[in-house]
Amino acid sequence: MGPSRFDTVHHAEPDSFRQMLSEFAADKSPKKISLAGGMFWDEEGKIAKMDVVEKATKQLGPHIWERHGYLPTQGHASFIRQAQNLVFSEQLVQSCLSGIGPRLTSFQTVGGTGANHLGTLFLARNLRPRRVWIPHQTWEGHSRLWQRASDFGSRGQEALELRFYPYHDATNNCLDFQGMIGVLEQESEPDDILLLHACAHNPTGIDPSREQWEAIANFCSARNIFPFFDMAYQGFASGSFDDDAWAIRHFVHGGHELCVAQTFSKSMFLYGERLGALHLVTGSTDAAARAQSQLSRLQRDGISSPPAFGANVASEIMSNPELRGEWQREVGMIHKRVMTIRKALVEELTRLGTPGEWDYIEKQVGMFTCTNLTLEQIDLLKTRYHIYVRHSGRLSIAALANRAAVTYVATALDTVVRETSKSHRCRVTIPGLGPRDISLKTSAADALPSQS
Ligand SMILES: Cc1ncc(COP(=O)(O)O)c(C=O)c1O
Repeated sequence: MGPSRFDTVHHAEPDSFRQMLSEFAADKSPKKISLAGGMFWDEEGKIAKMDVVEKATKQLGPHIWERHGYLPTQGHASFIRQAQNLVFSEQLVQSCLSGIGPRLTSFQTVGGTGANHLGTLFLARNLRPRRVWIPHQTWEGHSRLWQRASDFGSRGQEALELRFYPYHDATNNCLDFQGMIGVLEQESEPDDILLLHACAHNPTGIDPSREQWEAIANFCSARNIFPFFDMAYQGFASGSFDDDAWAIRHFVHGGHELCVAQTFSKSMFLYGERLGALHLVTGSTDAAARAQSQLSRLQRDGISSPPAFGANVASEIMSNPELRGEWQREVGMIHKRVMTIRKALVEELTRLGTPGEWDYIEKQVGMFTCTNLTLEQIDLLKTRYHIYVRHSGRLSIAALANRAAVTYVATALDTVVRETSKSHRCRVTIPGLGPRDISLKTSAADALPSQS
């Protein structure tokens, strides 16, 4: 073949997670284990299914094929109503006096990624914020999607600026609340957007306390900041859907306008079905109607209408009190299982006497834990033990399917930590640059690329 008109197209930056998935798939070792992804595995190492999802799918039986026509642009009406109730509570949505129903507009989306995508595009175009504040660290999609949205919704010559606020205190393995509020107080301005994880923060597993949420809500009111909640793990932080939605409901009670990106990928194990929703609470019914028309336009141009299968199943579960109860119980059991795995991992590392502090793993919640493993240690885990960990040091606790996996991972961690602890190096993640190993004898500035 001769030259191509695409010869000048640059290779896009490789996606390190996708690369890791391909490496994992090609790894022939029977011992291999991936702690990199965000799915649950059963005891036999297969992708986990929820009993209630299987039951609802069976119950729908042949009807599922009667309901597979195109959904409306906004999505499956019953699913949307139930998804709203799950986030905000039926009472808050429907109460005649204080209900937000008429001020709430919601769209079914292509998973949580689609909800974030639709939300970022809509806000960038219609609010035209100067800045968005993103926690450091966070789910990697946030920076990418906000960057993309900023290309679409610029304020004339002024591009939307992505700024990071401190979140994780890696030394003490807790929330850096003072750092977070300090930076926001000093540097944020009215009409900025503040991205918040509603519960079970990915990747740290650390959430603000209720008092801290109250302080964040007060700060948003005082500074006139727009909160954007991402809620990917409702039920996984506490075992209760209502408790995990507390922060969002608190903001709504406080009269905030806000957005919520929601996904059922995790809470129903519906990963590949791509089921999510974007909710927008506005200050007036008129604003809700205007916003709805703009969101409708974006949705129509982007995906025309969302996928039907997952919405039919989720709607069947959430609108049937018996199935809804079973679902809540199953999510409660999953939460307990994750806490048991966390405990088992800490016990094993303690029994082995692995250097370092590991207790924090048990104090965190949700699927992930954020470690201070160095790139050298992460590389050794892969090459020697076929254990795959993200460069950020995040471990998926949910991937430790059984006791044998916990023991294997703990033993591998113990060996690599002992072997490498002599090199006095640690890993830091620099916003915009990603993870870097630095020597403890030097400063973080050594990790920055040379200016020359
Ligand atoms: C915080 C957060 N938001 C959004 C998503 C994306 O969700 P989905 O897989 O449904 O697109 C994830 C997935 O890991 C997540 O952790």
